Amino acid sequence: MIRFDLVTALPDLVRSPLDHSILRRAQDKGLVEVEVHDLRDWAPGRHRQIDDVPYGGMGGMVLKPEPLFACVEALSERHGPYDEVIFLTPDGETLDQPMANALSLAGQLLLIAGHYKNVDQRVRDALVTREVSVGDYVLSGGELPALVLIDAVARLVPGVLGDAGSALSDSFQDGLLDAPSYTRPATFRGHEVPAVLRSGDHGAILAWREAQRLERTRARRPDLLAGPDPLADDPHAPSPGEPAAPGAAASPARPASGAGEESP
Ligand code: ADE
Repeated sequence: MIRFDLVTALPDLVRSPLDHSILRRAQDKGLVEVEVHDLRDWAPGRHRQIDDVPYGGMGGMVLKPEPLFACVEALSERHGPYDEVIFLTPDGETLDQPMANALSLAGQLLLIAGHYKNVDQRVRDALVTREVSVGDYVLSGGELPALVLIDAVARLVPGVLGDAGSALSDSFQDGLLDAPSYTRPATFRGHEVPAVLRSGDHGAILAWREAQRLERTRARRPDLLAGPDPLADDPHAPSPGEPAAPGAAASPARPASGAGEESP
């Protein structure tokens, strides 16, 4: 069971994605708890002001420290200490699969989504334990990044995914992209499902999948393949960018992941 508290000035923006599909079912099963908090609830005064102009004359607005301190302190008192207080920001460390794996071991995470130019640095210095980016591009706020983080982490919690093997078979989980998938019909508009997938030969299927994964990773994300290219000496390997030949059985360079995908 993992608990997320998400603090935002735009609570309605995040509710729908939390209310559908795997995240909804995970909450219904009691495996994941997500509570969305409106930052304005902790803003003092009649106007519930949460932002102000920055010192130093720069443009944009800055989230004020008082509501965020009051909010984090109140939630910590209510729920006990957080494993991490995460601020979503494009200048944070980039979220990747190993980070998601590590965060999935936490008991409770507090996420702060800013929707303005920045947040007062004293919040980052005193309250935030980790700053996380979802990629090298700038979004309008931290709400979508917070949802990305929650989704990436929640699906790793045991029991959240129906098929116990499917989180392990995700792209990136062992550093390789995933193999292509096919379902019925076996022939569609003249395009055949690779014969090996219909052969019933599980060893050949695993070898085919592993070869496809390596080839896809080499063609699309060579940066993920640290060290010597495992296909470099394989005379049957397709050249970069070319799809691997159906049925080409390159010997797996690493143990098969055992990702329990069965043919239909
Ligand atoms: N807020 C705006 N852009 C972001 C990004 N790329 N990652 C995390 N938070 C953000």
